[in-house]
Amino acid sequence: MQIQIDEHRLLDELKTLATFTHAEPSDEGTAVSRVVFSPDDLRARAWLKNLATSEGLQVREDAVGNTFMRWPGTEPQLPAVAAGSHTDAIPHAGMYDGTVGVLGGLEAIRALKRSGLNPRRSIELVMFTAEEPTRFGIGCLGSRLMSGTLDPNRADALTDKQEATLATVRTAAGFSGELESVKLPPNHYHAWLELHIEQGPLLEREAIPIGIVTNIAAPAGYRFTITGFGGHAGALLMPDRRDALCAAAELILSIEKHTLATGAIDTVATVGTCDVHPGAVNSVPSRVVLQLDIRDTDPTRREAVMQSIRRDCDDLRHRRNVTITEDLVNADTPAQSSPHILQLLEATCAEQAIPYKKMVSRAYHDSLFMARIAPIAMIFIPCRNGVSHRPDEYAAPADIVRGAQVLASVLAKLASE
Ligand code: GLV
Ligand code: MN
Ligand code: MN
Repeated sequence: MQIQIDEHRLLDELKTLATFTHAEPSDEGTAVSRVVFSPDDLRARAWLKNLATSEGLQVREDAVGNTFMRWPGTEPQLPAVAAGSHTDAIPHAGMYDGTVGVLGGLEAIRALKRSGLNPRRSIELVMFTAEEPTRFGIGCLGSRLMSGTLDPNRADALTDKQEATLATVRTAAGFSGELESVKLPPNHYHAWLELHIEQGPLLEREAIPIGIVTNIAAPAGYRFTITGFGGHAGALLMPDRRDALCAAAELILSIEKHTLATGAIDTVATVGTCDVHPGAVNSVPSRVVLQLDIRDTDPTRREAVMQSIRRDCDDLRHRRNVTITEDLVNADTPAQSSPHILQLLEATCAEQAIPYKKMVSRAYHDSLFMARIAPIAMIFIPCRNGVSHRPDEYAAPADIVRGAQVLASVLAKLASE
């Protein structure tokens, strides 16, 4: 069976998808911003569904907008083999995160069709809603709901910066069913695969073209609200101050200190947003909201870091006379890849003389949640300088094609089981 990925078509489609963006001139590369249910996201969805339909795939959308594009097998009642990723993009992002898995998956299916394969199991391409947490503050909305990890009522009540609920926003986007219906039944999928750029430096540094992901680190998200006392930047005397931003600055450094103190490469923490109230140059900050993203392959170690941070919060409350509240957004468990799919991936790379490396995914992916309902694995390809979530994110055409090729070969094997 000859599996031939059409490089030109795949690259053209990646470039076209990158045009569905809120236009942001950038001298760092193609800046892409495609926030879930924005007009750009809706245009991208329509374009993708059109591509799938013209390939003869059966398209279904669920109540949160997860999109399923199915090539029926000769035994369509069997659990399908599925692959995919996301097409939403954080503000000022690049054009490869998620999209390589979706369009690479589509091209893998086309290549299998061209090869004359008649799969026993159906092969399904999935595009997830809101892998990125940009709009509703929590990542992997679609796969969380699909795997029954997120309560549908809690999900529908999530709000964006304009205080619009997910329920309102998704309904306006044309997805109005009950969120309960998004959850997939047990054994719905025989196997799940996600092709993705590494988003880190290791494959490029070691000149290895394929990463086989053995496990995915567990992310957690917290929101800290620090309240002090505001006032006039000239008249409020320094000894009387209870500056919320100064307390926030100490908290951010405490997070960094305790994260580094584990000495483990897999412990990472980031404070990526800081909303300062009232946000005026001549006003002492009275309230600050910080969002913390903390991850580890070992959730116990992650929790130990949180405990140290909480001790520092107690000290800060006392010393700076501020209140600090902590809200949990999510605290997820790690995922392990299926030994069987790992073995198929290794065998496929060996057959095709492709060097590979088994590795951890420190970024999260929808596969983290798919692992709760199906045997999973991920295929990584290198990205230049390990850069992602930036406009200069780049993956070389040869690497993208190789990734899609490996994906197609393993989908074919899984679909014949
Ligand atoms: C996914 O985008 C992540 O933040 O890991
Ligand atoms: Mn991302
Ligand atoms: Mn991604």
